[in-house]
Amino acid sequence: MGVVRQLRQISADEEGVDIAFRADVHAGLSQKQKAIPARWFYDATGSALFEDITTLPEYYPTRSETLLLRRHAGEMAAAIGAGRAVVELGSGSSTKTPLLLEAIDPAAYVPVDISGDFLRESADALAARFPGLPIYPVEADFTQKVALPREICALPKLGFFPGSTIGNMVAHTAVDLLRNWRSALGDGSLMLIGVDRIKDIGVLELAYDDPAGVTAAFNLNLLERINRELGGTIPIANFLHRAVWNDVHARIEMHLLAACDLEFQVDGRRYTMAKGETIHSENSHKYGPRDANLLLRAGGWTPVATWDDVDPAFALILAEATEFRSAP
Ligand code: AVI
Repeated sequence: MGVVRQLRQISADEEGVDIAFRADVHAGLSQKQKAIPARWFYDATGSALFEDITTLPEYYPTRSETLLLRRHAGEMAAAIGAGRAVVELGSGSSTKTPLLLEAIDPAAYVPVDISGDFLRESADALAARFPGLPIYPVEADFTQKVALPREICALPKLGFFPGSTIGNMVAHTAVDLLRNWRSALGDGSLMLIGVDRIKDIGVLELAYDDPAGVTAAFNLNLLERINRELGGTIPIANFLHRAVWNDVHARIEMHLLAACDLEFQVDGRRYTMAKGETIHSENSHKYGPRDANLLLRAGGWTPVATWDDVDPAFALILAEATEFRSAP
């Protein structure tokens, strides 16, 4: 079967620049606390740097989640059942996907990712590994409404959202996303989602500020991308990577800190930053067991099983689409 066809759902202007990227950068740099949504990290360079991050000894989430998938594949398969279309949100290089696909005997696989090149490469690699499985890659931003390939519309579905990417969203955005996907995947669907747990601050901060500087390069690449794609003049050497735990919001925040007063242009628009000012570039929320369940319920999903017996702590939660009914 292999890769059947690829759908593209991204809007670009005449120069091929993502319209939403341009809008988010200008809006974000015009705020008092400058902020740019973390989804713009993932151009080809950013996606490759993220893959490097996942192999760092300090970055435990990938290791912990992979261990859970290996350890509990049988139980997950029993709870999920065969014959589902697996829709992976933000598939990236799909490194954990084979573990799931091998265990559950799915009817189709639909990787959804914003990075087209990465999507093609990983879909081809999976097609070689699972020759009988129809694969329908969709190049799209999974935080927006995504039209699913019509070939899977009659199949029962499993949303697969690993990596604790849900943690990169503030609660109301996370709930919107879960609700959107609840309606896109439909009644009777399931969602297997990775959620990072709250833990020792030292472990968390090191995971987001590794001594080799890979996470710093990942963060700074956002500025390089702005310079490259939006004609920016940002003096990147004058920015420092910062990763700090925000206890009120239970999240790691990444910032790009101005090491001196500076001035730059993006698309011909002028911006200034004072020494010590930051561009907030990412949130990575961590959830206790009850917090995660509440988030899922708010998004229209009822948790049915949790696997989290791993250190450093991480959870894979299986949830079913909540049937809507009036209830107290
Ligand atoms: C993709 N996401 C779940 C990662 C995280 O842990 O929040 C992104 C990341 N940022 C820095 N390191 C990894």
